Amino acid sequence: MTNYNIKYKQHNNNHKVVASAPGKVILYGEHFVVYGTSAILCAIDKRVHITAIKSQDIQIQSELANLKHNSYKQNISQIDPILRPLYYIAKKSTEITGSNSGITLQVKSDIPSGAGLGSSSACCVAGAAAVLKLLESTNTQTDDIINMAINAERTVFPNASGADTAVSALGGMITYNTKTGYEKIKSHTVPKFGLVITNSKIPHNTKTVVSQVERFKNKNQIKFRELLNKETHLVSQVLSILNSKDSDRQLSKAAVVRLGKLASLNQEYLKAIKISNNALDKIIKIMESMTFGAKITGAGGGGCIIGFTDKKTANSKTQTGKTEKETSKAMSQIEIVKRISNMGHDCFEANIDNTGLNTF
Ligand code: PMV
Repeated sequence: MTNYNIKYKQHNNNHKVVASAPGKVILYGEHFVVYGTSAILCAIDKRVHITAIKSQDIQIQSELANLKHNSYKQNISQIDPILRPLYYIAKKSTEITGSNSGITLQVKSDIPSGAGLGSSSACCVAGAAAVLKLLESTNTQTDDIINMAINAERTVFPNASGADTAVSALGGMITYNTKTGYEKIKSHTVPKFGLVITNSKIPHNTKTVVSQVERFKNKNQIKFRELLNKETHLVSQVLSILNSKDSDRQLSKAAVVRLGKLASLNQEYLKAIKISNNALDKIIKIMESMTFGAKITGAGGGGCIIGFTDKKTANSKTQTGKTEKETSKAMSQIEIVKRISNMGHDCFEANIDNTGLNTF
């Protein structure tokens, strides 16, 4: 793993630090990553902001839950799971720095929670950065923050891979492989594709869906192996597009269209392992008619669908069968969002976040 150094911005007030970190989507490779394929993730421009303030005791204030007037003496397993990762971060940071300060953490998030968009990882990354800086931890490297954030997440999700936390801290796009860890995709700084995200609002549980896929794999070993090989090939095709020489500055339109097609192909593989359902298929069909390609992101069974666009235009099919791109009637991300929202779905635009963790 490469160690990327976060540059802290200087600030004068040593009793208060604000840090922010982005959410994420899995672009390609979910589920197959569990069996050895690399996944490709990107950070999105939806963020969590955490303000850390020195105080008498530990307090956590968020829209989801509150921890009032607590001390570090409590056993972590007794803390509400929603608040446990941040409690862990506050406690661990005081141990590392030898501080005896209490900490108040105020959480503000524009990442929908429980939708597979990485809100809890972003909280852990921003929380770890804010608290370590508040307590003046010296020589803090990005990997220290990522590691603290992963350990915090594992107080609730013991099998968290760490991919979400890595992409949230680093920003941009990464590959993640269970054997070799994460690697930033560095070839171009501002990938010129946009995303449209529809939240199906169907609750899903990653652990349950992963077990369901394991059962599918055990019953359909040959089929699963074939799909795994196809997914590995697909991910390598994506990487060769992203790493191609002409993507040094930005991706060509043709490359973005190809990425969309590969997303739709990836969706076929996800469907084949039975993590889609009628409601998700319906949303995917709508999104495919307006974007370059659409797929489930994350565990499936519910959660979110992503559609690839080139930020300004998308190839929506018209009644004549021609695409809007072909007839020069370009549809913007905003227009897609408007149309899908008008159908009663929770839809919003997102772009790749290239900043990652930020502290103020
Ligand atoms: O739904 P998410 O964002 O938690 O993603 C789950 C991704 C899986 O590949 C299904 C599981 C995993 O641990 O990689």
